[in-house]
Amino acid sequence: MKPSKLYLAIEEHRQRFGKNLTTMGHHYQADKVIRHTDLRGDSLELARRVSRVDSGHIMFCGVYFMAESAALLAQPGQQVHLPEPSAECSMAMMSPAPLLDKVLALLNSRGRKTLPLAYVNSTLAVKAAVGRHNGAVCTSANARVMLEWALKESDAVLFLPDRNLGRNTAELLGLSPDEQHVLNIKDDADKLDLAAIHQARLLLWPGFCSIHTRFNLRQIDRVRQEHPGVKVIVHPECTPEVVAAADQSGSTSFIIRAAAELPAGATLAIGTEINLVERLAEEHKGRITILPLVESSCVHMAQTTEKSLGAALDALAACEKNRKDSPFLVRIPEEFKTPAKATLERMFKVCGL
Ligand code: 13P
Ligand code: SF4
Repeated sequence: MKPSKLYLAIEEHRQRFGKNLTTMGHHYQADKVIRHTDLRGDSLELARRVSRVDSGHIMFCGVYFMAESAALLAQPGQQVHLPEPSAECSMAMMSPAPLLDKVLALLNSRGRKTLPLAYVNSTLAVKAAVGRHNGAVCTSANARVMLEWALKESDAVLFLPDRNLGRNTAELLGLSPDEQHVLNIKDDADKLDLAAIHQARLLLWPGFCSIHTRFNLRQIDRVRQEHPGVKVIVHPECTPEVVAAADQSGSTSFIIRAAAELPAGATLAIGTEINLVERLAEEHKGRITILPLVESSCVHMAQTTEKSLGAALDALAACEKNRKDSPFLVRIPEEFKTPAKATLERMFKVCGL
């Protein structure tokens, strides 16, 4: 098929910018976007690779918190751009920073040291609040190591915003349900059960990913009935019940590796974002069969399209000519920079990266 005008225009920009532009994309991005990327990865891989990129511009195809992390890790003078600046993550929005500040103040008010551990899927302001309390971030690929570290460093850990990743990781570390407490927070901290809080080792913010909580036990039962011998792998943002019913669970990079390691003829059902599942199905076509537990698409990731990538590159090229900043530039307010960056650096240090 003849390439579209848009495809050619984007590739022309990439050629013209040459070494001065790196296009990065999360695995949940659509194929039409992914095919224009120099680097693709899961949250951890992308964050790690930013510091080794030396082009002046990074065009980041993903959601806002990922581009913010990239901007925090970028070298001085390097600019990170997000083609769709309104691409937020609904889970990240479930833990507003002012509420987190209030909760942390309350939790630490009685001499018990509560350390915050934030999933990297959180806003810049939240990362800064976590950093001010000497906490760290984690991704789904290193949540176990990071939670183990945080538990050693404190009397209690506040894991946010994803209660499911928190509970699934606690299960791996052998923490009993009695040692965990899901905070009862709506818009304020007034309903917190302080007696229960002070007994728990792990406090969980009640956030969740609506894309991964679409997977359920009925879908797993059905796929097992329809495809005897099928292997079921889900992402740890799924509920603990779904993770327990699956054969394995793991981060995006874990799922990619697991698919590659399956023997020819196997059938794999995956519970994660549909763009990744469909791409893996295509890549392994003819060797193994890959199917989604159910089609679940992230609307936030889907906001970045080939068209918005093209528009952001047009704007960047025009702004370079006029020596102006692009409207797609991700800016990090000075007051957040140091504490938010510290949370990422702590993660790299604890994980030996
Ligand atoms: P990972 O890239 O860490 O697997 O996270 C999945 C996700 O939901 C990204 O938004
Ligand atoms: Fe956020 Fe879930 Fe979408 Fe990831 S998949 S960006 S956690 S809503």
